[in-house]
Amino acid sequence: MCNNTKLIDSLYIKIYNLFIFSKKKEKKMKKILSLILCLAMAFTMSTALTGCNDDTLYVYTNAEFAPYEFIEGADVVGVDMEIAEAIAEKLGKKVKIVNLDFDALTPQLSNLKDNEIILAGMTITDERKEKADFSDPYATSIQYIIYDNTQSVILDTIAKLEGKKVGVQLATTGDYIMSDFTVDNGYFDLTVNQYSSAQSAALILLKGEIDAVVVDKLPAEMIANNNEKLTAVAASYEVDNENIFASESYGVAVKKGNTELLSTINTVIAELIANGKIIEWTNQYSGIVA
Ligand code: ARG
Repeated sequence: MCNNTKLIDSLYIKIYNLFIFSKKKEKKMKKILSLILCLAMAFTMSTALTGCNDDTLYVYTNAEFAPYEFIEGADVVGVDMEIAEAIAEKLGKKVKIVNLDFDALTPQLSNLKDNEIILAGMTITDERKEKADFSDPYATSIQYIIYDNTQSVILDTIAKLEGKKVGVQLATTGDYIMSDFTVDNGYFDLTVNQYSSAQSAALILLKGEIDAVVVDKLPAEMIANNNEKLTAVAASYEVDNENIFASESYGVAVKKGNTELLSTINTVIAELIANGKIIEWTNQYSGIVA
């Protein structure tokens, strides 16, 4: 039951008790109590109309990651938001989007309530799985390098980024992988500059203040498609004959132990993969045919 309903129930009981106790008292008191009862009823009606928390699925995201989530006019739209709507529909709830900075989603993983999920093109990682449970993957990606194709030195491989400045979105997998690049870790040194979004990093790249941006495939391709000076290519770097830029899988995060919600979400994801909806939305929102 939702908190508002509990509150209203206890309010009614209190008012009823007052009625009984005031039986022998003056009529005036009864009039006042009737008025209070009317007000309480009006409050119940308005709560029923606006809906209480129980009818709402809160969706935490960072709407700076087209085609998965981005701002269009006054709305947050994208593939993930379509998935959120489909999950909410299955649950008989309505969606309320909570748009945060991506780095605020990491603490949110540990704070999720039963009616809250994170849908943010979030890669399923072991560290994140310690804080929340993840659904089955609904999409895969890989890190891409965005570089300025008008420069004399073309920085289209990770190896060429030695000693360079690389922009990333704070607290993303791109940030984590690039921040590992130090001589101490057995790679080479480079400087990582963290930004609130890959788009803002790309603007700094265009100004020539950094040398490249590392971000997930489709967001990288969309940024490059929107600016002829920018090109996006898959990132790869081999250590012991193995590419350290492995494929990443996106999942929906739910509160740890909420197996009921998780299995509903997995059912919805399976349906949306089977009926081609995820691919359709991905093509639609990216303008790139997968
Ligand atoms: N897949 C990457 C990660 O999980 C980047 C996600 C960024 N998502 C966003 N909505 N900004 O770290």
